[in-house]
Amino acid sequence: MNCNKLIEEFSELIKNKKCNPYEGELKVGVDLGTANIVLSVVDSNNRPIAGAMYPSSVVKDGIVVDYIGATRVVRDLKDQVEAIIGVPLTKAATAIPPGITEGNTKVIANVVESADLEVINVIDEPTAASCVLGIRDGAVVDVGGGTTGISIIKDGKVVFTADEPTGGTHMTLVLAGFMKKSFEEAEEMKKDKSLERDVFTIVKPVVEKMASIVSKYIQGYDVDAIYVVGGACCFNEFERIFKKETKVDTIKPIEPLLVTPLGIAMNCSV
Ligand SMILES: Nc1ncnc2c1ncn2[C@@H]1O[C@H](COP(=O)(O)OP(=O)(O)OP(=O)(O)O)[C@@H](O)[C@H]1O
Ligand SMILES: [Mg+2]
Repeated sequence: MNCNKLIEEFSELIKNKKCNPYEGELKVGVDLGTANIVLSVVDSNNRPIAGAMYPSSVVKDGIVVDYIGATRVVRDLKDQVEAIIGVPLTKAATAIPPGITEGNTKVIANVVESADLEVINVIDEPTAASCVLGIRDGAVVDVGGGTTGISIIKDGKVVFTADEPTGGTHMTLVLAGFMKKSFEEAEEMKKDKSLERDVFTIVKPVVEKMASIVSKYIQGYDVDAIYVVGGACCFNEFERIFKKETKVDTIKPIEPLLVTPLGIAMNCSV
């Protein structure tokens, strides 16, 4: 995939707390996710410049459940990235899962504004992801912590969206039940690469169910490819199960967790 280099570069910048040289104005994106809050910066050519992320428990499925906490995290990420780049960030774009209410959208924008970032654009998450993927057609499936967003894109426009209450949290719950462990222990296990084969056997039914849900939604649309993004599709076998269940080519970019956050920054313009 063409976008993989870009995503990898962004990931390295976050890991090493570094920034790239940039051209033109900086564009900022804030992704308030259920599992992670990510602040991304790209330049006027949409090249990744810097970023920071923080594991979150202040947002649930696009709803801010801890306003003060969320604001604090965004402020902190902004401080971190400003220290790396050496210039103040003043404007940002943010994103919402498809289908959330206007009131909840406002709360999300307010969190970002409380961190002294003027919100100049609010886009939906699948559109953000599709900008990074560089696609004009296909289905984008964002398997996050709390929800799975399904969007169908035709000629560069979102023509259908749905949001289902399943995702990585659901996988962790299944694992915790099976292993008789706490949620926190199961979450650790789930992300441990050395245990991946055993873990995947247990969470596979959740992935099959997700794929069957996606299958139903894309019926009636001419979908040639499914692009999976979001942290919960990190498993190696994820796209194979999806393809088997949906009979549609399933493509996963490198570091699926960072696709939507990077796309939000790319949309920081009016
Ligand atoms: N290496 C990994 N293997 C398996 N699951 C992972 C891995 N890394 C992250 N996850 C899972 O991905 C989920 C978080 O993904 P992501 O950051 O895309 O969600 P989010 O945007 O915060 O949530 P949402 O979009 O639902 O609001 C969590 O459930 C987390 O456990
Ligand atoms: Mg998300």
